[in-house]
Amino acid sequence: MSERVAVLGSGRMGDALVAELAPHHTVLWGSRDPERIAARAAELGATPVDHEAALAADIVFLALWHRDEVPFVSRHRAALAGKIVVSMANPYNADYTGFTTSPDTSAAEVLAAAVPEATVVGAFKNTFWGVFERPEFPEGLSDVLVTGDDQDAKDRVMAALAPMPFRFLDAGPLDRNRTVERMTLLARELSTRYGHHPHVSWRLLGQATPEPTVAS
Ligand SMILES: NC(=O)c1ccc[n+]([C@@H]2O[C@H](COP(=O)([O-])OP(=O)(O)OC[C@H]3O[C@@H](n4cnc5c(N)ncnc54)[C@H](OP(=O)(O)O)[C@@H]3O)[C@@H](O)[C@H]2O)c1
Repeated sequence: MSERVAVLGSGRMGDALVAELAPHHTVLWGSRDPERIAARAAELGATPVDHEAALAADIVFLALWHRDEVPFVSRHRAALAGKIVVSMANPYNADYTGFTTSPDTSAAEVLAAAVPEATVVGAFKNTFWGVFERPEFPEGLSDVLVTGDDQDAKDRVMAALAPMPFRFLDAGPLDRNRTVERMTLLARELSTRYGHHPHVSWRLLGQATPEPTVAS
C-alpha cells in the first residue's frame, strides 16, 4: 500500500532512503533548506519541503543525528501526535568510541520518551549508507532490524519498506535498540579496521532445522 511518508534530513541516509522510497510512496523530503535539495528531489521524485510541511506525512523517518532529532520531536510534539516516527540514529560520541546515551537505554527509547504522542519504530540503524547502493552481499541481502513496542506500527513500517532490496526482520520491542545500536558501533569499528566501511551490514545466517527422523 502506498503511504505518505516524510524523510527528514538530506545527508547520506536521507538521500539514500528517499531514492528507495520515492518509487513506491508519496515522499515529502524535509530539509532546513528545501531550495538546496530541489534539483535532487526532482531527480528522485520527491517533494522538497521545510520541516513543518514534512509533518503532514503519516510515517516520518528521521535521518538526523540523535543530538538533532530529540530537539526536533520535542518542538513538534503536537504535530507528531498519532504519527509513526522512525528512529534511525546511533547515538555515537564525538570520536565514535562509544555512545552519548547510558547503557540502560537507547537512542530510540530516548526519542520515544521525548514524543510520547507518537509511536516510535526503529529501523536502518545497522544499515550503513554505502549498503543502499549495493545491498547484496555474497551471503545474501543485508538485514534491516525493525523494532517497536506497537506491533501494528511496526507491521505498517515493514509493509511500507517491503519493496526495498533488504531482508526486514522483526527484532522485537524498542528496548532491543540497546543491542542493535551497539551492534552498529561494533560493525563500524570492525569494518573500519578491515577496510569495508561503509559497505558493511549485518545478516543473520540461519537455516531451517530439519525435522527429526522418527524411528519406526
Ligand atoms: N551514515 C550511516 O552509514 C548511518 C547508518 C545507520 C544509521 N545512521 C544514522 O542516520 C542519521 C543520519 O546520518 P547521516 O550519515 O545521513 O548524517 P549526515 O550525512 O550528516 O546528514 C544529517 C542531516 O541532518 C540535517 N541536519 C544537520 N544538522 C541539523 C540540525 N541542527 N537540525 C536539524 N537537522 C539537521 C541535515 O539535512 P538538511 O541540511 O537537509 O537539514 C544533514 O544533511 C544519524 O543519526 C546516524 O546515526 C547513519
